[in-house]
Amino acid sequence: MRIVLLGPPGAGKGTQAHRLADYFDSRLISTGDMFRRNVRQETSLGLKAKSYMDSGELVPDDVVIDMLFSELDKSPNGWLLDGFPRTLAQAEALERGLEERGRPLQAALQFVIPDEATIARLAGRRVCRRCQRTYNVEVKPPRIEGVCDACGGELERRSDDEPETVRHRLEVYWRDTAPLVEFYRDRGLLREVDAVGEVEEVTRRAIGALDDVPDRT
Ligand code: AP5
Repeated sequence: MRIVLLGPPGAGKGTQAHRLADYFDSRLISTGDMFRRNVRQETSLGLKAKSYMDSGELVPDDVVIDMLFSELDKSPNGWLLDGFPRTLAQAEALERGLEERGRPLQAALQFVIPDEATIARLAGRRVCRRCQRTYNVEVKPPRIEGVCDACGGELERRSDDEPETVRHRLEVYWRDTAPLVEFYRDRGLLREVDAVGEVEEVTRRAIGALDDVPDRT
């Protein structure tokens, strides 16, 4: 299966991406997670990406595209992309690159949610410093406040989840990423999912929306 997940910050892409990757037994590639890993490890890529991420801007296209294709080539048959593409230039590069490899994209799944709902979700998000598991103080709290259920690590707020930065990320989303909905609709690849509701319910809708994707390998 070769699909991309689209939607505003806080739509639940990361949450659903893990669940869908398990369900379809597919490799999950998240550009946000890759950048955060590089930031933690203080690699040159991480140093390049950090200032963009902290201010809610997108990392420049050439940096992301190079990083992404080196990952895709490790799993030529199937993957689920979370966080890529984010601009028309990235979508066009993905389309060209996949055509060259003879393995075109099969679907683009758009998580539809109002801005107010994503702002509320991101205000409550907490992430484990150690294993990166995601919680939400309102809807998915850890058993012990501030402590990861899985590894006992300390929970923290993501540096780009401060309210000002979240507002800017949403502006960037509507300016640069939302046009991809039409890009994929024009190609007959778009599937839309209502992202408001219980996590399990959204997963059911997403699986239903991907039901007719022919090749799941
Ligand atoms: P990235 O990590 O991709 O962030 P994002 O797209 O802004 O998305 P988020 O991770 O904030 O939200 P999400 O939709 O995954 O929601 P989640 O499941 O966590 O990118 C970060 C940065 O990296 C970018 O700003 C950019 O700088 C850079 N970057 C990455 N890719 C790039 C690219 N291609 N080009 C350029 N730059 C790039 O859920 C959010 C919260 O809601 C959680 O607390 C969760 O528990 C809760 N929640 C989830 N589902 C539900 C539900 N159904 N009901 C209630 N709460 C829910």
